[in-house]
Amino acid sequence: MQTKTPPENALKRKYPEQTVLVVTRGNDGRANVMAVGWVMIASSEPWMFALGIDDAAYTYELIRQKREFVVAFPSESMAKETLFAGTHHGHSLDKFAATGLQTQTGVLVKAPLLADAVANFECRLVCIVQPGDCPIVFGEVIAAHENRSPRVLCLYNWGSNYTLLGARKPRTGRLS
Ligand SMILES: Cc1cc2nc3c(=O)[nH]c(=O)nc-3n(C[C@H](O)[C@H](O)[C@H](O)COP(=O)(O)O)c2cc1C
Repeated sequence: MQTKTPPENALKRKYPEQTVLVVTRGNDGRANVMAVGWVMIASSEPWMFALGIDDAAYTYELIRQKREFVVAFPSESMAKETLFAGTHHGHSLDKFAATGLQTQTGVLVKAPLLADAVANFECRLVCIVQPGDCPIVFGEVIAAHENRSPRVLCLYNWGSNYTLLGARKPRTGRLS
């Protein structure tokens, strides 16, 4: 049974939401990191991500400048750092120094990988489209890296005030 409600109320029911960290590196050599919940796989041949990135974000400026970035899926141990990356702008703040996030060098993109993430995807900017109020950034995956530890779980945003927690598979494999 459904009850008509404004979209912003209905959307509160969609959580948990996958959250990624988008890593960039500017002309000054400094890396930046931002949390993004508006993320989806947009193509499998070639692999692409689509990300909703506010044009006020420093990350948006750096993606347009360098035309490359890393999409990292944070592990549940990275909740505090993910919240920090998602609540501070990097224009005049070094979020890596502030959080102590560990990095690793990628193979094709100058922005670093996040060493403790579940997986990292090096991406090349394909295009940016803006059908509504938020620019949608399309990135083609040009290299991918995984954390092989089976104990490392992905981090999700569970909604109200950015509650960031891991999610476990139900033991039976059944959802109900
Ligand atoms: C869990 C979470 C999810 C977020 N999702 C988005 C998103 O999808 N798009 C967006 O533009 N900002 C999102 N934000 C806010 C940005 O991460 C925030 O504005 C950040 O400070 C931008 O950093 P920058 O200016 O260094 O690029 C999210 C924040 C959090 C904590």
